[in-house]
Amino acid sequence: MPREEDGASADALTDFGYERVPRGVKKERVREGFDSVAPRYDLMNDVMSLGLHRLWKRFAIAHSGLRAGQRALDVAAGSGDLSIGLARRVGATGQVIVTDINARMLAAGRDRLLDAGIAGNVAYVQADAEALPFAANSFHRIIMVDAFHHLLDQSTAAQELWRTLKPGGIIVIEEPDIRTFIVKLVALAEKVILMRSRFLSPTRIVKMFSQQESRTQVVREGFNAWIVIEKSSEAV
Ligand SMILES: C[S@@+](CC[C@H](N)C(=O)[O-])C[C@H]1O[C@@H](n2cnc3c(N)ncnc32)[C@H](O)[C@@H]1O
Repeated sequence: MPREEDGASADALTDFGYERVPRGVKKERVREGFDSVAPRYDLMNDVMSLGLHRLWKRFAIAHSGLRAGQRALDVAAGSGDLSIGLARRVGATGQVIVTDINARMLAAGRDRLLDAGIAGNVAYVQADAEALPFAANSFHRIIMVDAFHHLLDQSTAAQELWRTLKPGGIIVIEEPDIRTFIVKLVALAEKVILMRSRFLSPTRIVKMFSQQESRTQVVREGFNAWIVIEKSSEAV
């Protein structure tokens, strides 16, 4: 499933926190990285964001303009919090594909959606955002919340989001804004505890899509940013 960065072998050394490790090892660590937090991820998220992450996820859905009957992809869905909102929005005639690289997070998400009474219009796929196992032009909306900074090869992931988005579709990437003091502190803390994260400014994320036939918009609120990328309906 994982695809190595252009030309880089799995043995080439790369940064992981303060360590230099082979790329293959790094990918494995990213995949396993959320194993230990999966059972208490929701609680952690509530505590660290003071519950605000729920509101931010509602913003992400609102910025996507997702409608009933559409097909949506939740990339790096974690414990499925956003997926619940997406599934309710698309309704019985739409579909949400819930994905994460980490099997335990994905299982936590499936349990959570079942507990919320959501089934039938959702499917679960363990998938790496850098090598999505979906055909081109598959989704009306693609949403990725609080995960872009966890990716190993962010530009490959951006290409994958673009490839799998239908013409006329919309991608929403929600990220903590690294230009704010609090996010700089979080980035430092994550480095210290050897969580490999790479926070990019919204402008740099937008640039990853600027070669494409797209219209982009950045919405900032507090220390978060929503990067909204619309694929032209003429795009091939
Ligand atoms: C901070 S959590 C965010 C989860 C969820 N989107 C939310 O906002 O509640 C980051 C998630 O990204 C996933 N992840 C990290 N690297 C990934 C990759 N390359 N492909 C897919 N998922 C990835 C992790 O397993 C984890 O579940």
